Amino acid sequence: MNDPSIAQLNLSPGMIDFGVGQPSPALLPLAQLKKAAASRLDGNDPSFLAYGANQGDGYFRAVLADYLHEHYHIPVDADQLLVTSGASMGLDLLCTLFARAGDTIFVEEPSYFLALRIFADHRLKIISLPMDAGGLNIEALEEKLIRHRPVLLYTIPTFHNPSSVTLGAERRKQLVELSRRHNFLIIADEVYHLLNYAKAPPPPPMAGYVDADTIFSLGSFSKILAPGLRLGWIQTGPQLLEQIVDCGLLDSGGGLNPFTSALVRSAIEMGLQQTQLATLLTTYTERKVALSNALKEYLPESVRFIEPDGGFFIWLVLPEGVDAEQMRVEARQKNVGFLPGVKFSSAGKLENCVRLSFSYFDVPELEEGARRLAEVFKAFRNDKC
Ligand SMILES: Cc1ncc(COP(=O)(O)O)c(C=O)c1O
Repeated sequence: MNDPSIAQLNLSPGMIDFGVGQPSPALLPLAQLKKAAASRLDGNDPSFLAYGANQGDGYFRAVLADYLHEHYHIPVDADQLLVTSGASMGLDLLCTLFARAGDTIFVEEPSYFLALRIFADHRLKIISLPMDAGGLNIEALEEKLIRHRPVLLYTIPTFHNPSSVTLGAERRKQLVELSRRHNFLIIADEVYHLLNYAKAPPPPPMAGYVDADTIFSLGSFSKILAPGLRLGWIQTGPQLLEQIVDCGLLDSGGGLNPFTSALVRSAIEMGLQQTQLATLLTTYTERKVALSNALKEYLPESVRFIEPDGGFFIWLVLPEGVDAEQMRVEARQKNVGFLPGVKFSSAGKLENCVRLSFSYFDVPELEEGARRLAEVFKAFRNDKC
């Protein structure tokens, strides 16, 4: 029985909350994981129930490397992968190992709001960098590098959360070049890379540059299989990898998640992961198109947004002076929710922006949510502006 008081996600009935950035329950792959688990648990090899190698299960890493090779369209070396309990945990571990309280981290403006919380936990000094339609603005980065000495730079290069933009191939090269010249490490959060809805693939992932030994690429099964698995990986070059593998956390507990890795290994080997990804791509494409069209139909032209090519999000830019946080209070009364832009700003700005996720609700709900949102926006503008 699903008791709403203890359920992971507690949505009030009738509420269309565009703030929810996870798959709907119907998209969670229970049947696939039943098959994967049965195949693994029916075998006679109990080794995945023991402490594992610090870097993570080698069989799983080999299968994952092949899977990533196929989807990234670049070679992926299993020896450069380290298993984590998800991208968030990987991010936290990297902050523990490669930064000290008071160090500077560069982030994009906007950036993933929960990553900002992790950096705050580590008492890092957060400096924001502007973005445009081509992703992180490299000229602005160069300028800031003259004044600050970051130890880390955090970027979401492909299908950004929340802005959905993608960093161009040329800028990726420039970023790597700058990290080498100015001696900082790049954490590229690539959790949305495989969620591409366009015909052409996105530029190759930053994972392709790990041999530079200034880059960590974070990946996760949260967006392509199921977030509850808490399974992800860090891909990096040999010198940086060695420093992670040797850390106390991994030395004490062994590699992370051997049990889940064994199940997901079966899911990949049995083609179930691939089937799930295909289902997600079809469903999210439909949802993205439906929400974009409904927003175009209902919202006035003064609200700007780019239809995304991938990921989970549509980023609305409302007219200057509209405070999305205030508007959210009124939206709740009309049973529609969203996350206000200020949450994604490390500089306390972006008050007139809104993040909408299309991952959770189905097409009719997304259309109805867009209609409600437009009503709230129009009433709010008339009242307050
Ligand atoms: C950019 C980004 N990184 C990381 C995460 C969390 O990943 P995980 O579930 O693997 O910790 C999310 C989830 O929303 C995200 O959007």
